Order: sequence, then structure tokens, then C-alpha cells
Amino acid sequence: MIERWKAQAGLAVGRQLRHPSGASGRLVGTVMRFANRKPIQAVVGSLDLQPTDRVLDIGCGDGSAIAMMSRANHVVGLDQSDTMIAAAWRRNRAAVRCGRLSLRKGDMMALPFGPKAFDKFAAINILYFCDDVPTLIAGIRRIARPDARLAVYVTAAESMHDWGFATTATHRHFTRELLVQELERSSVPESDRSVEEIALPGGLTGLVATARINPRD
Ligand SMILES: C[S@@+](CC[C@H](N)C(=O)[O-])C[C@H]1O[C@@H](n2cnc3c(N)ncnc32)[C@H](O)[C@@H]1O
Repeated sequence: MIERWKAQAGLAVGRQLRHPSGASGRLVGTVMRFANRKPIQAVVGSLDLQPTDRVLDIGCGDGSAIAMMSRANHVVGLDQSDTMIAAAWRRNRAAVRCGRLSLRKGDMMALPFGPKAFDKFAAINILYFCDDVPTLIAGIRRIARPDARLAVYVTAAESMHDWGFATTATHRHFTRELLVQELERSSVPESDRSVEEIALPGGLTGLVATARINPRD
């Protein structure tokens, strides 16, 4: 009985992580903010932001990563969830008001932007919800400037195995090998990509992948 209740509660949280909505979604957003601090720092660091950069944060959630991107010229946060777009606005309202940040509701599988729109892309904790990484990366290529950079974070499958709130019913799990394989399937050559493991509190392991998009040479 207790096991069944725990499984149902886990599934409900997993669904909220995938598409936060309402009061539960806001709560999940707050928890994500604290849990994801180190992964966000790792991705923002690997983007090497420059004052001229236009950045797209794909699946921006409550805008915690955006708050660390003040070095960039302009940031766009994209998310499918109204609840998260509202939370990202609240967290970053000063940047929105001074025109350095725009927030957009949309689907990462059909990125609603024109060609050469961005220099840098962040994709933090969202590949779990992507069944077709090559199509996602093809969409990124379509809107990227030459020599753009993509940085991705996922928690390693080995660390997620025991999480009742992120089972394979709601989340795709990535080993290092699967992440490399997906970059290969997306035609990112070995010379244009890296996948690093990072140590997280509690003995957990994260994976940070970077890829050069639309290389000049
Ligand atoms: C686990 S949260 C991660 C949020 C944030 N990137 C972070 O690491 O704190 C996943 C976010 O991706 C968004 N998301 C999931 N699938 C999406 C899709 N197809 N298009 C746009 N956003 C999506 C969800 O709405 C949610 O806000």
C-alpha cells in the first residue's frame, strides 16, 4: 500500500518536473532552484559568455540559470510551461524591464526563432524530456550563428536510478555513453564536442556536454 502510494507520488512529481503547472509546479520550481545550483554553474561556466552574446536558455524553468547570465548581451528564456515563464519573469524582472531578457512560451522541438538568432545555447535538465535529440540539435543549428556553442546538463543515469520522482515513466535516463551516442547521431563530430563528469553533493554524478554548432571551418 505504502509502496503504491510512494510510486504514485513519485510519478506526480516526475510529471511536474516535465511540465510544471499551478502551485505544485511553483513548488517544484523552488526545489529545482536549490538542487540545480551546481549544474547551472557548470553550464553557465562552460558557455564562456561574452558581452556581445545572444543566449537561448531552452527549458529555462524558473529562470535560475538566466539570473547567472548577466554577462551576456541578451538572453531569451524558452519554456513550455506558463507557470515557469511567470516564475522566470518574477526572478528576473529587472533584466526584462531593461530589455536584456525576453521570455517566450514554446516547444524546444519547434524553436520559434529565425536564422542566426543566438551565439550560445543552454539546455539544463531538459534532455530527459527529449526523445529525438538529433531533431532538437537540427533546430538549434537552424537558429545558431556561426561557431555557436551549446552546453547541456543531465544527471547521470547511475545517480537517477533510485529516484522515485524521475523514473523512466517520465524521464529519459542518460549514461555518458548514451549522451555521446546522441551527439554522434546529431552529426556533432568528436573534435567539436566534449562530455565531462561533474561531482555533485551526496555522491551524485552529473554530465556536462558542450558542442560547437555551425563551425566556421
Ligand atoms: C526539470 S525542469 C529544468 C528547468 C531548468 N532548466 C533547471 O535546470 O532548473 C524542465 C523544464 O523543461 C521544460 N520543458 C520540458 N519539455 C519542454 C519542451 N518540449 N519545450 C519547452 N520546454 C520544455 C519544463 O516545462 C520545465 O520547466
